[in-house]
Amino acid sequence: MKRDLIDLNDLKVEEIEELFELADSIVKDPKKYSKVCDKKIMASLFFEPSTRTRLSFESAMYRLGGDVIGFAEAGSSSVAKGETVADTIRTTSIYSDIIVMRHYSEGAPRYGAIYSDKPVVNAGDGAHEHPTQTLGDLYTIYRTKEKIQNLKVGFVGDLKFGRTVHSLITALSRYENIDLYLISPEELVVPRFIKSQVIEKSGMKYTELRDLDDVIDELDIVYMTRVQQERFFNEADYIRLKDKYILTPETIKNAKEDLVIMHPLPRGSEISPEVDKDPRACYFEQAKNAMYMRMALLTTLVGEDCNE
Ligand code: NCD
Repeated sequence: MKRDLIDLNDLKVEEIEELFELADSIVKDPKKYSKVCDKKIMASLFFEPSTRTRLSFESAMYRLGGDVIGFAEAGSSSVAKGETVADTIRTTSIYSDIIVMRHYSEGAPRYGAIYSDKPVVNAGDGAHEHPTQTLGDLYTIYRTKEKIQNLKVGFVGDLKFGRTVHSLITALSRYENIDLYLISPEELVVPRFIKSQVIEKSGMKYTELRDLDDVIDELDIVYMTRVQQERFFNEADYIRLKDKYILTPETIKNAKEDLVIMHPLPRGSEISPEVDKDPRACYFEQAKNAMYMRMALLTTLVGEDCNE
């Protein structure tokens, strides 16, 4: 049976832990895994811009000995001629062993997966979910905090359109004693369905705030996000809201010494470049961790067992 990864509910917590262990062993001995995807082809279909997700998936596949086909610009594919997602996926699944797909429409990867007999991985669908970013984020928390429990986690910025936020909250709701601080302007609060179907259903404690300064000193993790300009209907609202939260050395002066500062990247002005040299800044490490988690995922979904 083919295995898709469309949202976080497609993975059990135990499976996420197995991916951490596999990623740890890839980090320790990359050579051992350098042929596990030999002769396997990954199709990388990006209908929306990307740097980290696309390049880290492609780099992950090459590092595992596999090959990559695809497009980074839907305009260069038959999509420009009006081809449907169903037909694009049905065809691509003939040419490849696994499909990684980013799309601007919520639900497109789930829909596409119906037409593929090869695994489909959601690399971000509109404002909905971004499960492989979350695998990298969880791995970053696991590596820095050595556990995913008893943590105060602050999400800051665009909690309405930020798909990385939605996926990470969903994942964290399955771990013990995570307190959420949801810091955003009124217009960009977490969508109601996430609040009722994920946060409240799981019994997680959460507080909604407007001001980061009120809580920064208590946090174990601060997850900054970019205001998602491309999902705004109104340019004036975007301009009004985009610089609402800016993390500077001053903002984190009294924050915990072991605070972990995360950001899925790309950043706008929400983390000032002077913060980069603070040892608590983890966002580039986070991008690296995500590549190892993608290697672990590809190994699990299409790789040969290198212990055999
Ligand atoms: C994020 C995305 O595409 O959702 N980027 C990423 O994949 N690392 C976040 C963003 O675009 O703001």
